[in-house]
Amino acid sequence: MSKRQILVTSALPYANGPLHLGHLLETIQTDIWVRFQKLRGHDCTYLCADDAHGTAIMLTAEKLGITPEEQIKRVQADHQRDFDGFLINFDNYYTTHSPECEHYAQEIYQRLDANGHIEKREITQLFDPEKNLFLADRYIKGACPKCKTDDQYGDNCEACGATYTPADLINPRSVISGATPIEKASTHYFFKLGEFTDFLKQWTRSDSLQPQIANKLGEWLEAGLQSWDISRDAPYFGFEIPGAPGKYFYVWLDAPIGYMASCANWCEQNNRSFDEFWAKDSKAELYHFIGKDIINFHGLFWPAMLESAGFRTPTSVYVHGFLTVNGKKMSKSRGTFIKAATYLKHFQPEYLRYYFAAKLSGGVDDIDLSLEDFTQRVNADLVGKLVNIASRSAKFIHKGNDGKLSAELHNPELWQRVIGKSDEIAGFFDQREYSRAVREIMALADAVNEYFDAEEPWKTAKSEDTAPQAVAVSSQCVNLFRVLMTYLKPVVPALAEQAEAFLNCELRWDGEFAPLLDHKIEKFKAMMTRVDSDTVDKMLEESREEVAAAQQAAPKKVAKKTGAASAEIEFDDFAKVDLRIAEIANAEYVEGADKLLKLTLNVGDETRQVFSGIRGAYEPEQLIGKLTVLVANLKPRKMRFGISEGMVLAAGPGGKDIYLLEPHEGAKPGMQVK
Ligand code: MSP
Ligand code: ZN
Repeated sequence: MSKRQILVTSALPYANGPLHLGHLLETIQTDIWVRFQKLRGHDCTYLCADDAHGTAIMLTAEKLGITPEEQIKRVQADHQRDFDGFLINFDNYYTTHSPECEHYAQEIYQRLDANGHIEKREITQLFDPEKNLFLADRYIKGACPKCKTDDQYGDNCEACGATYTPADLINPRSVISGATPIEKASTHYFFKLGEFTDFLKQWTRSDSLQPQIANKLGEWLEAGLQSWDISRDAPYFGFEIPGAPGKYFYVWLDAPIGYMASCANWCEQNNRSFDEFWAKDSKAELYHFIGKDIINFHGLFWPAMLESAGFRTPTSVYVHGFLTVNGKKMSKSRGTFIKAATYLKHFQPEYLRYYFAAKLSGGVDDIDLSLEDFTQRVNADLVGKLVNIASRSAKFIHKGNDGKLSAELHNPELWQRVIGKSDEIAGFFDQREYSRAVREIMALADAVNEYFDAEEPWKTAKSEDTAPQAVAVSSQCVNLFRVLMTYLKPVVPALAEQAEAFLNCELRWDGEFAPLLDHKIEKFKAMMTRVDSDTVDKMLEESREEVAAAQQAAPKKVAKKTGAASAEIEFDDFAKVDLRIAEIANAEYVEGADKLLKLTLNVGDETRQVFSGIRGAYEPEQLIGKLTVLVANLKPRKMRFGISEGMVLAAGPGGKDIYLLEPHEGAKPGMQVK
């Protein structure tokens, strides 16, 4: 077996929030692969980092009243703690906000520019005049131009599914300040991706890519590649573009360069050469493990950048699907949006590592964490089959032979059968077909347990002349346990460590297996407890509570969806809403808004101006004198037409069917509605 030199990465998590089990699907998949390669004796290095730049991080820091540097430091510490908790064994965990990253971002950019692969162009975007900030689509909300549902993002409507551009929204507003965005022009820098079409066609056809991924990239290549906008205007948390004051690299330009930065930092600390990994003629293999949502960055932009800048390109990009929980997208209200830290409060990391391994393949299908299946599988396989082999055998060896394994194998055929699977199982790990590896290993564990059952050592141990047979059978089983634990070591490293202590030997998979004969083992100590389904419920409950607590801290509007039930709220939440009877004193059309009426409301001792989307149901004059319920303590919102000081409530699905209250002699303007 010749020694491979391998560099492996997982995608860099955003330094903007905690890790959840979806992130862990990726790092566990990668970590198993890396541990496997190392176990086989290869020179394999696993690098990652936090992705620390961008508008979102800048805004989060601002909201928390801290600097972005402080924000990314805090989040990185949390990320590293959680990854440690899941036994993710990075050789280096770094950050894109680092001198190495800035150095390589500038160097790569300058090479692209020198090669004529950068162009400048003026573009017009929506701009927040209060925050002085250009607004990405997700920072603009308004009513859907098609179905009129309010509070929709700038690119698509959650209610009717329509897609559009932010400029199409009715009453667009900046999510950050509430201001009405204006259009503004600015010069942007573009990477001329189209010039790499032929190169990318070739690169994506190298057969190391998964077929689904090669096809997807092929579709994009056929459709034609646009230049890629790599600049953002100040204020932006990132690296300034050399020679372009006030212009910053878009976070996705320096994010993959973070792989290089982490590598450079690791090389420096370990006295290794950066060029050995990244030079055009590098002999090292380079693999990026990523989720299916970021294929374009890793399959198009990144190899093209590397090619232009004169670096080597990835050997392959290994794409996985998304994690669902109990068959559905992770959901905050169902409690299935499970944070890494929440899981770790309740369970050992290896349950999940094993479960993911049992489900992962080399494909891009989504992976479901079915919590019932999780409980059942961990208990049946890890505890019931694998650890059981050691726990039931050990006592006969201690009782019958002072803890020493027999001098020869009792069943050489079974030994051959188990070690004979070594190459096949190793092949499955190498191909990321972990579920097939796990299936083979568990089938072998079944065979070992069946052998034990058939030999009935608990009976033979009882009489003196058959007692040696109980020792021989148990010694055979302990030897097989050792091989099976070696196969599973990349998946359950801490369990493997306990097995090593029990067996008094290191579990190695870098050569032929030889049985342990005349070898002293330790007393068996419980290695793993069963998963308890009550604990699963507790974890879900806690996840739900965390979401509720977070929402209380930062109240967020639930998008109005026709027919959809809203999330439950606490009474205290409801009690915060100040509802008042209001009399519509005046109503007028609003120029330039075909859905809105401007209402003047009499609320007892004050008048309020409110813009309301009820024009489809009423002519202004029909409204005068009618009563409505006003949300009186809603924060005033600046709209394109003026300030709206509250919101009026009415019943009905919308459009022509909106019903206000009929006047009633007892209902006086300003009266509180309870
Ligand atoms: N910062 C970028 C990656 C830059 S790489 C140069 C990013 N960050 S992320 O935090 O959103 O996601 C990190 C990785 O986690 C991505 O590969 C993403 O696909 C993966 N996942 C995020 N949610 C996931 C699931 N629910 N399921 C599986 N993987 C998921 O993207
Ligand atoms: Zn819509």
